[in-house]
Amino acid sequence: MRNKVAVITGGSSGIGEALAYKFAQEGFNILIGGTNQERLKKVCSNIKISDVKCSFICHDVSNKKDIDRMIKKAIDEFGQIDVLVCNAGISIRSVFEYVELSIFEKLFNINFFGSVYSAKYALPHLIKSHGSIIAISSLNGFIATPTRSAYVASKHAMQGFFDSLRLELKNKGVHVMVVSPGYVKSNFRINTLKNDGSKEGKTSRDNKKMMTSEQCALKIFDGYKNKKRNLIFTFRGKLAYLIKNWFPKFSDTLAYKEILNEQESLLKNY
Ligand SMILES: NC(=O)c1ccc[n+]([C@@H]2O[C@H](COP(=O)([O-])OP(=O)(O)OC[C@H]3O[C@@H](n4cnc5c(N)ncnc54)[C@H](OP(=O)(O)O)[C@@H]3O)[C@@H](O)[C@H]2O)c1
Repeated sequence: MRNKVAVITGGSSGIGEALAYKFAQEGFNILIGGTNQERLKKVCSNIKISDVKCSFICHDVSNKKDIDRMIKKAIDEFGQIDVLVCNAGISIRSVFEYVELSIFEKLFNINFFGSVYSAKYALPHLIKSHGSIIAISSLNGFIATPTRSAYVASKHAMQGFFDSLRLELKNKGVHVMVVSPGYVKSNFRINTLKNDGSKEGKTSRDNKKMMTSEQCALKIFDGYKNKKRNLIFTFRGKLAYLIKNWFPKFSDTLAYKEILNEQESLLKNY
């Protein structure tokens, strides 16, 4: 897939970083975005494949102008965009009663509007290339869990937005895939915000039992190659999807227990 171009938001860490390596391995030129310049530089310098270029942009996906800059940079440097990965995202762990609304809005602006802005500015180029949009959602894109209302809402919104966009683009040759990973080992839980906007700084789950970001990236690349519509790749995720649709009350019980049993669960004293 020489000379193709992938633009990946949140490429400085975790799933986005692993996707940058995978797409580069497959011969794509890469543009990654993130807020941490040092990490972005490091990811680009880790890509040492002849004829493959990696470029980065330090930006905030919740800022429209920053996204416009990202897409212009990709076109200036590479001339085309074949794949857009809307991956940048954060979470909040808080009961809704105590969360500061400004923090709730911050999450929504990153997870949802960051994806909307990226799709908007990249779309003319994706129509031209008959390219793909890969939206990294979550099992929380179709299943609600307590103490994650902002995250759940943002991922449900992503699912709805990209499902609608897929239909609209039916005759334009643009492929849209929504990915719903289960738990993946990354900095995600360490970066999760508390109700006041400070970072958790530690994980609320046992990382050892999780899929690695690299394994996740391989599954996503396979889904992209096979032009999948929705991608749920864990057995647990597929089962959860069925239970949610056929036995919603049982699904609620399981989701509540899942969060009640996590480390330092916020449900214990609520
Ligand atoms: N890990 C999981 O268990 C899991 C499960 C399901 C879905 N997901 C989804 O997967 C995606 C990637 O998460 P991850 O697990 O790889 O977490 P991660 O390691 O924390 O990576 C998150 C990425 O998003 C970027 N980002 C955050 N805020 C940003 C902003 N305002 N502007 C630009 N970039 C920003 C970060 O960049 P900087 O570090 O440079 O700020 C980082 O590259 C997220 O959308 C998440 O919801 C994760």
